[in-house]
Amino acid sequence: MRHGDRPNYLRATWLLLLVPLASTLVNGCQQFSCKSGKHPSALPAEATLTSPRPPAGEDTRLPLPLLPRMAEHQLENMRDHLATIQEIMDALSQGDFPAVARASARIGYSEQMGQMCERMGAGAPGFNEMGLAFHRSADTIGITARQNDAAATFKAVAATLQTCVACHSAYRQQIVDEAAWKKIMSHRRTIAP
Ligand code: HEC
Repeated sequence: MRHGDRPNYLRATWLLLLVPLASTLVNGCQQFSCKSGKHPSALPAEATLTSPRPPAGEDTRLPLPLLPRMAEHQLENMRDHLATIQEIMDALSQGDFPAVARASARIGYSEQMGQMCERMGAGAPGFNEMGLAFHRSADTIGITARQNDAAATFKAVAATLQTCVACHSAYRQQIVDEAAWKKIMSHRRTIAP
């Protein structure tokens, strides 16, 4: 190798390193601006006049009693479920079946998911079953994606979204204190030891 070749070779190596680095930075910035969001500096006047949620009496959905920290955790799970569906649709629109299958695994059934639904639904009869139906339906997204079957995968996503809608029309969170939660748990032990 002649002495003069070396800088070219080095330059090429730098380019190889810089391109992924630059794209990581760009993606990172996009994610950051998404997370930081554009929060309005002040709420419109009318927003302060009405409660964002109807009073319990006007909402006919069944209560899902939860301790405050469980309620927060449940909503975090929910936001992740929605993000997962978004990832699935994005991958599906690009025909990227492996990515569809990977994303769907995040909402599919696992023993851990089952236990979480059971705990969250301890005070709400039927909630656990609806949760399980949802995770089982999400499993079918992975199955159809692994078969590279776009039409069947779309159907599986639609059926899964239906299970989200069904549960949302049936239950609403109800924040309870430790004493009420203990009662719920002890009642549950007497009916399902
Ligand atoms: C087994 C029941 C159940 C299933 C299944 C379910 N959810 Fe939920 N979800 C709830 C409950 C209960 C709430 C709280 C609603 C309330 O208190 O008004 C909620 C709230 C949410 C919220 C609001 C989160 C927030 O921060 O306020 C989102 C978003 C959401 N769900 C998305 C989904 C998506 C997407 C799916 C399906 C892919 C899904 N959920 C499936 C029960 C369920």
